[in-house]
Amino acid sequence: MSAKDRPAYFMIQDAIEQARIQPGGTFVEASSGNTGLGIALIAKQLGYRSKIFVSKSCSKEKIKVLIQAGAEIEICENSNGLHDFHSTQFRAQSFAATHPNAYFTNQYYNTQNICAHYKTTGPEIWEQTQGRITHFLSGVGTGGTISGVGRFLKEKKADIRIWGVEPEGSILQHYLQYGKAPKEISPFDAIEGIGRNFVPGSFDPQPIDHIFQVQQSMTKLMARRYLAETGIPSGFSSAALLACLHTYHNEMALGPAHTVLLFFPDHGSRYVSKLYADSLDFKTASSTL
Ligand SMILES: Cc1ncc(COP(=O)(O)O)c(C=O)c1O
Repeated sequence: MSAKDRPAYFMIQDAIEQARIQPGGTFVEASSGNTGLGIALIAKQLGYRSKIFVSKSCSKEKIKVLIQAGAEIEICENSNGLHDFHSTQFRAQSFAATHPNAYFTNQYYNTQNICAHYKTTGPEIWEQTQGRITHFLSGVGTGGTISGVGRFLKEKKADIRIWGVEPEGSILQHYLQYGKAPKEISPFDAIEGIGRNFVPGSFDPQPIDHIFQVQQSMTKLMARRYLAETGIPSGFSSAALLACLHTYHNEMALGPAHTVLLFFPDHGSRYVSKLYADSLDFKTASSTL
């Protein structure tokens, strides 16, 4: 399971309520894997089919669980947004438009994405920290999590800091600062789930104070260090938050008076081959010595 099951559930529920899909129809989504899995599992439970478009950077583990969940999958060249014919988003939209009783949930532009986090994740964080939270740190992909949680928390406590994290080379930091995309947009080292080279409609800059950029190499390093120190394999984008703390420690000026929440949306089991395969080999190797 992942935090993205929430938007998946809200988008499906809304589509059914609004009669945008009939029983037995196909839910279609473009996803780095997690939203797709939420859609696939919920669709199956409710008697619908699912067709998920993932990019070729999607981990083997996620593809495997998607197939197990009954999704039909198509692997696309990239997730560069609707304007790119080879993107997950274009292929998903095109599939839904050309197949009867197929509905594109479209997490990048669906209001239910932000709404799910505004109505569930935000209040849960507020309750579980008993209102003591002072900083919220979250990876940014579609923007749904940070926009929904940020909106809720700022309504509760206006001076709370809402901080995003994306890979170096992604454009949302620039968009937040200047209100437009940078002139030069180039490919960047991917951290699954976060970072974009277009601005999703579900990214609401309003509650966000700052977006930090981290290196993929530092993220991988931090994932392994966290595993070594805690025994917990974190997800890829979760490790990006650790890389962020490590890189911007001084600038963040955090102290004992602060309650900082790091939002880990999934877990390391989905990235064994990408992040931990060597350390597992190492463990296996050392146990056989
Ligand atoms: C692992 C992971 N981290 C972070 C995110 C980003 O969340 P959001 O799309 O709400 O910005 C996603 C989104 O799919 C994700 O799958």
